[in-house]
Amino acid sequence: MATMESLIGLVNRIQRACTVLGDYGGGDTALPTLWEALPSVAVVGGQSSGKSSVLESIVGRDFLPRGSGIVTRRPLVLQLQKIEQGLQDYAEFLHMPKRRFTDFSMVRKEIQDETDRITGKSKQISPVPIHLSIYSPNVVNLTLIDLPGLTKVAVEGQPDTIVQDIENMVRSYVAKPNCIILAITPANQDIATSDAIKLAREVDPTGERTFGVLTKLDLMDKGTNALDVLEGRSYRLQHPWVGIVNRSQADINTNVVMIAARQREREFFATSPDYGHLASKMGSEYLAKLLSKHLEYVIKARIPGIASLINRNINELEAKVDHLGRPVAIDAGAQLYTILELCRAFDRNFKEHLDGGRAGGDR
Ligand code: GDP
Ligand code: NA
Ligand code: MG
Repeated sequence: MATMESLIGLVNRIQRACTVLGDYGGGDTALPTLWEALPSVAVVGGQSSGKSSVLESIVGRDFLPRGSGIVTRRPLVLQLQKIEQGLQDYAEFLHMPKRRFTDFSMVRKEIQDETDRITGKSKQISPVPIHLSIYSPNVVNLTLIDLPGLTKVAVEGQPDTIVQDIENMVRSYVAKPNCIILAITPANQDIATSDAIKLAREVDPTGERTFGVLTKLDLMDKGTNALDVLEGRSYRLQHPWVGIVNRSQADINTNVVMIAARQREREFFATSPDYGHLASKMGSEYLAKLLSKHLEYVIKARIPGIASLINRNINELEAKVDHLGRPVAIDAGAQLYTILELCRAFDRNFKEHLDGGRAGGDR
């Protein structure tokens, strides 16, 4: 019997196969609509609010370029795929399909190099996404999108249009109804001025797909705390706010590893006089669980819609694959065939979930 986890994994694989297929071949099928129906998670927030750090913690691996100033300069579409326990973690880039990365510091380097290939070693940005897949026994099946931070002014070496360019780029991702928004706000800054919340509210006025994430709790002024935000009094969202303590720049410079950082984050909440009573609902690991639970809920709710799109795809893809002839030699054909196979698998397995209970519990 198909578990919810394997079902989400399948949806993930269909999504990835659609990405690989790109623009060619999918044009006259329901694939573009299918892609829009599948959920993903994107981070939104001001520059250096901790977006890349939060994504890394959710994944549980060190692989993203982080730091002060504009570091993330192209969208990074990151697919997490759970594999069998005991297998080794690895990563693959869409632009380098033949290379399997097992050293995650090389993944970080390749993200930097690939960013520079398009933008030059500059402070320029590009809307052309980098596609990365991470396979690991220790991840939940998720598509995460890292984005450049919202800024207020252009700095030396950037065009005057950059502020608007970044906002437009971010908006193009988070405006989609399938996008779950992680609105990242640093706790050492007034929430009323949060760029993340402002943009999230514009594209998701009811807040049903927005998760408020408060970073840098360790950097708040002594004698202040963020309870008004975390307990939903400052700005109420449908989902509970999650507080986070990421690694500081000093930690990055001295290579503090993820496990140590998570341990310290747990201790921070557990021993905090202010946040102790919220400890079980704070931190990166809790955020990751909350997200996967929500994703499960969303996918479950959308199964009938996704299933009918997939049915349509099966028919259209069969016609297309037949037309190309089997065995299909060219890349597009092979890719269509892969998608067709995945869709068939979905079709065989989804039905039992239609009358299953609610996945909820996160609201
Ligand atoms: P992004 O620009 O939003 O992607 O932010 P990054 O993840 O690159 O982080 C920017 C800087 O803020 C880095 O120097 C991080 O070490 C630091 N930082 C992020 N989150 C926290 C946090 O929770 N606590 C502390 N002390 N520093 C943080
Ligand atoms: Na930054
Ligand atoms: Mg970043």
